[in-house]
Amino acid sequence: MPLLDKKKILCGVTGSIAAYKVCDWVRSLKRDGADVTVVMTEAGSRFVSPLTFAALTGNKVYGGMFDPEDAETIPHISLARSHDLILIAPATAQTIARLAHGLADDLLSAVVLAGEAKVVVCPAMNSKMYLHAATQENLAKLRKYGYLVIDPEHGSMACGEEGPGRLPEWDQVRNSVLGALSSGELAGKTVLVTAGPTEEPLDPVRFIGNRSSGKMGYALAARAVQLGANVILVSGPSVLTPPHGVAYVKVRTASEMYSEVMARFDVADIIVKAAAVSDFRPVEVARQKVKKTEAGLTISLMQNRDILHKLGEIKDDRPKPPLLIGFAAESENILENGRQKLQKKNLDYIVINDISADDSGFAVDSNRVTILDRHGRQTDLPLLLKEETALRIWQEVLGSESVPSGKIGQDEGADNEQ
Ligand SMILES: Cc1cc2nc3c(=O)[nH]c(=O)nc-3n(C[C@H](O)[C@H](O)[C@H](O)COP(=O)(O)O)c2cc1C
Repeated sequence: MPLLDKKKILCGVTGSIAAYKVCDWVRSLKRDGADVTVVMTEAGSRFVSPLTFAALTGNKVYGGMFDPEDAETIPHISLARSHDLILIAPATAQTIARLAHGLADDLLSAVVLAGEAKVVVCPAMNSKMYLHAATQENLAKLRKYGYLVIDPEHGSMACGEEGPGRLPEWDQVRNSVLGALSSGELAGKTVLVTAGPTEEPLDPVRFIGNRSSGKMGYALAARAVQLGANVILVSGPSVLTPPHGVAYVKVRTASEMYSEVMARFDVADIIVKAAAVSDFRPVEVARQKVKKTEAGLTISLMQNRDILHKLGEIKDDRPKPPLLIGFAAESENILENGRQKLQKKNLDYIVINDISADDSGFAVDSNRVTILDRHGRQTDLPLLLKEETALRIWQEVLGSESVPSGKIGQDEGADNEQ
């Protein structure tokens, strides 16, 4: 099921130079399954043709309040009633002022006043306009009304100036939209997620690593933020940008990951161990780059501490044990190996990746997982984007217990993670 399946989103496009960027945003919302209708201010329609948004959304684009074609539906009321969320992007200083003062002199502002939907506002303007006391006061009012105002980015503008006022990247806004539409089931909970590979140095330039990209762990962290949790993401080296809203802790080795996770064990209500932690590390790390030799090279390895095993061992000592969720990457005897790990490591859940297929597991965008819980319940998920898999994992956990009281975790084997 797409993340925004059956959600109706009204997108208000106003007269900013950044309006063209929202064409892509609308496409992304559509890809996520949303039904999108665009309302443009008169100035907005000077920047992007309504025709473009009509083609992208497959829906009529609304403009003026007094279009005789729509008279019988009273569009400012019918649009207000029929949408789950109003996303105003880009939001001009003018539209922000209108909303802050409760004006209803165009269709978009009238819809906002008449609706009960959540409102997300993405200001975009010249930095002096943005920093002006009037705009800042207006934005403070919008926040007071309960609208979610997304801070603009700092950077260079179309007008040549530099400062705050740029429309943020879609990923950040999308997370906020998903969050605004979620029912906040993890509000007040602290979720600790580990992700990515670890690197075990051999010398100053070489290391033992693995193919984990961190995508699954980052997707779980992003979804937990959207569900209202305080999220701590402890990540090994990854090219991914940490999801907006997480407390990010960067580590390199398994031993660093061990220390950072243990230091936060007491505050976590749920621990999701999605990292692919190296089982071994070189006994010795050469200070200088190791030279080529005819005789070849033998490397002695020693075992790393098993973080997940340790968490399973100590979690029941806490008055309210955290829910411990582990992952296991398996290519054979998938269920049997997963079941054994669940028990051996005292997990509440184990999410088993079938890494035998090219389209699932390490370093790809999709995953096919089976979730086992400590009561023996098994849920097989189909091949899904990792983001959707993350949502389904959270749904599974939230649907089957009150948090915290169970267990979810990832196997510590070096080949567990994606
Ligand atoms: C080329 C150009 C770019 C503009 N870009 C912005 C902008 O990024 N942000 C903004 O607040 N106003 C911008 N304006 C000014 C608005 O279009 C103007 O204030 C308009 O009245 C906004 O009306 P609306 O809020 O109803 O769309 C721009 C104007 C022009 C001519």
